[in-house]
Amino acid sequence: MTLLFHNTTFDKIDVWKKTIKKYFKNENIISIKDYKKFNAVKYAIVWNLPDEVLPKLKNLKVIFSMGAGVDHILKLNNYNKKIPIIRIKDTLMGERIANYSLAQLLNYQLNFKIFQNSQNKRYWSGERTPIDNKNLTVGILGLGFLGNHIARLLCKLDYNVIAYKKSPTKVKNIKIYTGKNILRFIKNSDVIISILPSTPQTNNMINKKFLTTMKKNSCLINIGRGNTIEEKDLLNHLKKNKNFFAYLDVFKNEPLKSSSQFWKLPNVTITPHVAGVTAIEPSVRYMYSIYKKLKINKKVKSDVNLSNGY
Ligand code: GLV
Repeated sequence: MTLLFHNTTFDKIDVWKKTIKKYFKNENIISIKDYKKFNAVKYAIVWNLPDEVLPKLKNLKVIFSMGAGVDHILKLNNYNKKIPIIRIKDTLMGERIANYSLAQLLNYQLNFKIFQNSQNKRYWSGERTPIDNKNLTVGILGLGFLGNHIARLLCKLDYNVIAYKKSPTKVKNIKIYTGKNILRFIKNSDVIISILPSTPQTNNMINKKFLTTMKKNSCLINIGRGNTIEEKDLLNHLKKNKNFFAYLDVFKNEPLKSSSQFWKLPNVTITPHVAGVTAIEPSVRYMYSIYKKLKINKKVKSDVNLSNGY
């Protein structure tokens, strides 16, 4: 039987291919160039599959997303909602995204961006007292599997962690805000780490009203999806508030164009969508475990709740 692999953006594609071959050894692994074999494809391991390929995969049984996000599949016009999607839920990815969040949080907390900007001007800016962990309330916007990893690391380090989540839940040591309490969550956060998925509800959720509700000398770390930020509003906010910092890993359009104003602002740090790089071995192993279940049970439960949109 046949497995389609497609990804043109991730690092270490050769390792991905080798690892997929190691686990799925009974499958014929093809790329989108092998269109003559599309009819035989039962499994697809993909990231940003071109929309026109999907209707040609007439015998597709399951789509494995190579990341935690599934928006790259749901946005395809030709996606047939009956085909289950499996996403990566991996503790190593959780560790990576928590490390990234901590690094950017510390960058803000210890004034590193200010010192870097001073260094660029060969200017000794002098002592600045950092904020201590216990005095910093970190708001996590989106407390799913990965958000929980971030929250756990920050709680261990004595930060005061609060979170906003779509549906009510209880998590030890974390005050959770839901539903209409979003403004209270924003007001009570000293800094916000956003890890929202891309859905119609989260589109432009971080807009002028959101940003002006945030504390003035604050910081926004976005490691969710770019569509959640109204970028024009964030640019205006950053220009008006020089002591407001943005750490942006995701954008509405990636790669970010060289003409984007975000590159030039001294209070912005940009990384190229690397906060939660997928760990290859555990992810392929996980996909293989689902594949084995599918072989036995003939069906598999989708990880995506289509009414939630993620
Ligand atoms: C990365 O953005 C992912 O969805 O894993």
